[in-house]
Amino acid sequence: MDLTRIQNLSLSYISSFALRCAVDLDISGRIQAYGHPMPLNELARSIPIPPEKDSMLGRLMTLLVNQGIFVQSEAGYPLTPASELLQTEGSNVGAYVRLVTDAEVVKIWGRLSEVFKESGEVSLFEKVFDGKQLWEFAKEKPEYGKLFGEAMASLSNSLMRGLVESYPHIFDGLNNLVDVGGGTGAAVKIIAEAFPKLRCTVFDLPHVVAKALESNSFDVVGGDMFEKIPPADAIFLKNVLHDWGDEDCIRILKRCKEAIESSKNGGKVIVVDIIIGFESNDQKTIETSLLFDISMMGLFGSKERNKQDWHGIIIGAGYSDYKIYPDQLGVNSVIELYP
Ligand SMILES: C[S@@+](CC[C@H](N)C(=O)[O-])C[C@H]1O[C@@H](n2cnc3c(N)ncnc32)[C@H](O)[C@@H]1O
Repeated sequence: MDLTRIQNLSLSYISSFALRCAVDLDISGRIQAYGHPMPLNELARSIPIPPEKDSMLGRLMTLLVNQGIFVQSEAGYPLTPASELLQTEGSNVGAYVRLVTDAEVVKIWGRLSEVFKESGEVSLFEKVFDGKQLWEFAKEKPEYGKLFGEAMASLSNSLMRGLVESYPHIFDGLNNLVDVGGGTGAAVKIIAEAFPKLRCTVFDLPHVVAKALESNSFDVVGGDMFEKIPPADAIFLKNVLHDWGDEDCIRILKRCKEAIESSKNGGKVIVVDIIIGFESNDQKTIETSLLFDISMMGLFGSKERNKQDWHGIIIGAGYSDYKIYPDQLGVNSVIELYP
């Protein structure tokens, strides 16, 4: 029914915060520690919550079962592939849930309509936070910056394992690679461990790489990708270009081209990002891409791109050719750019 659909959509943010609540209560970690399907009362005692709140916890679990995060068996709640991702151990996508539901930043979405009422390039985020870009905000609020880094790293863990397993030949013949906008190095760590002969570097803003993961397997360089990028056989750009408008992307891609052209064995730029409308028939994947697109609109004044948009910025930055890999990694696709 149309009315039910509108009610459902209006209330959907409650699903986000119910998921956030499950992360804050570490429900997945408790089920994992229990070792087998966990009855509601055991879950309640392990948190612990006052016994009169057990039925409220049951209602929270019912919603999350309905949303496909947990399942309920006769014995209790077993760990599922989705709920496993939210454990505090391991890749901990819980950090991503906490980032997206951050109480201070989430308030921008109540003002989304303002994006359409004014001309100019200021993003909604900048408008709400007194002209600050998200990167400046994250620098000034170290806790938010730390959460941002953890969230990006948690998403990188599962995606990057899929990338190195599904597409190992992408890295064939390369001696060195720079991960531009690579955050604290979670992605580059997985590449370096999978291909020990490949010398890897994470490159990001100086205050971000100052918090880079401890590792002997990759180098760390701080700088500004709009100015100069260290030379390398390959530049890796994962979920960076969607933060920027077309002109900025062309500037970044030109710096990448200079970096690979000044390396002797220079070959390509590897982009991992969303391509709107690409291949997928899965309704959740399509919907998630569209949610990311509006998320980029509000947070950065930027966008997710369709094939035509990607063609425009790649050719606009002076590349002669590119190749889009046919299989997606979740919502992301892989594009190789050749100078
Ligand atoms: C959305 S995050 C992606 C992080 C990482 N590539 C990943 O996929 O997890 C974008 C990254 O770009 C970095 N960044 C923003 N402006 C930058 C600049 N001017 N130079 C270098 N890195 C920058 C941010 O600090 C952040 O780590």
